[in-house]
Amino acid sequence: MTLIGNWSYPTAIRFGAGRIEELPDACAQAGIQRPLLVTDRGLAELPITQATLEVMKNAGLGSGLFADVDLNLNDKNLAAGIEAYRAGGYDGVIAFGGGSGLDLGKLIAFMAGQTRPVWDFEDIGDCWTRADAEAIAPIVAVPTTAGTGSEVGRASVLTNSLSHVKKIIFHPKILPSVVICDPELTIGMPKSITAGTGLDAFAHCVEAFSSPHYHPMSQGIALEGMRLVKEYLPRAYANGNDIEARAQMMSAAMMGATAFQKGLGAIHALSHPVGSVFNTHHGTTNAVCMPAVLDFNAEMIRTRFDMAAAYLGIEGGFEGFTAFVQSLNDQLGIPRTLSELGATPERIDELAEMAIQDPSCGGNPVTLTIDNLKELYRRCM
Ligand SMILES: NC(=O)c1ccc[n+]([C@@H]2O[C@H](COP(=O)([O-])OP(=O)(O)OC[C@H]3O[C@@H](n4cnc5c(N)ncnc54)[C@H](O)[C@@H]3O)[C@@H](O)[C@H]2O)c1
Ligand SMILES: [Fe+2]
Repeated sequence: MTLIGNWSYPTAIRFGAGRIEELPDACAQAGIQRPLLVTDRGLAELPITQATLEVMKNAGLGSGLFADVDLNLNDKNLAAGIEAYRAGGYDGVIAFGGGSGLDLGKLIAFMAGQTRPVWDFEDIGDCWTRADAEAIAPIVAVPTTAGTGSEVGRASVLTNSLSHVKKIIFHPKILPSVVICDPELTIGMPKSITAGTGLDAFAHCVEAFSSPHYHPMSQGIALEGMRLVKEYLPRAYANGNDIEARAQMMSAAMMGATAFQKGLGAIHALSHPVGSVFNTHHGTTNAVCMPAVLDFNAEMIRTRFDMAAAYLGIEGGFEGFTAFVQSLNDQLGIPRTLSELGATPERIDELAEMAIQDPSCGGNPVTLTIDNLKELYRRCM
């Protein structure tokens, strides 16, 4: 099967190897004449980024680049990006990268025309209606990892550089107008990033599938997303040049992000504080937390995972599924404890105080409290 497609939900997606060449067309479709390409420092130097800038230049789109992004991007990165955007007279953003480049690109397009501070648009209630929607610049998204699915998401994650708290910033108009999913861009990902980002996609599917809210569309997408990860992540990890596996993982990433409109849960609630305090990689942190969270939620999710296991070809129902998750982590070189990622148990009280504030708590099938979050952290350390 040739893995090529032009899709229209959840937004316009041009999917297929080599399609980065269509970037000028995608910009025209989004109404952008003078784009700022936003990515992270590491990616800026890589040949895929240089080649993309070349495509832009050849099409008369200039070669505007902003790449001052930290691993867990913060408000200082955003302020510098907005300044670069305004000073350069740009009229739209190409958000290019993993979750870091994508999230920052989306936020620059969002915030360049606003007068209120970014924290006013946290994903709580209808805070987003405070924004001037007309002033949001158009966005073309180009993922280079297969994990966060931020290319089809309406939120960005931003760390407060003073409090070290990760906040989710939401506006429906930061859903990119056009996405180019070119699996060739993901071929150079190092093994550890392939594993960590792929397991972030998996965590999105698992948590959406576990969430008790009624949303059958998300349920179906999450289930098929889990199947794609199970089948193709080990292949992409074993052989980074396996373009079919890379393509299927790009789809799984978008499916995870689409599915988690139904809700996330304790994995993300635990992971966000660890990421912002200890600067760990998001997807890798999720993967470490997943076995303990599945165990903690067991009684509320057993029946639905019995069904998922049957679909995924895993014997032993829910227990079979949890055993599969641990063996997948082991196979992909994920440590068994957060301590191995650099987190320290002395800070559990503080981490639990941060976790209980995380909006992801709302989607967990068992109600989360400070006490059970502390217990979960102890199990994960
Ligand atoms: N918006 C959302 O819905 C959402 C969801 C989950 C996570 N996130 C956020 O996304 C961020 C994590 O994103 P990520 O996991 O994609 O990692 P990342 O964007 O931080 O990238 C990780 C590393 O991989 C490198 N890299 C990326 N693509 C590469 C490629 N093709 N070849 C070689 N190296 C490459 C980057 O330079 C970087 O050093 C976190 O900030 C997290 O909070 C957002
Ligand atoms: Fe995530």
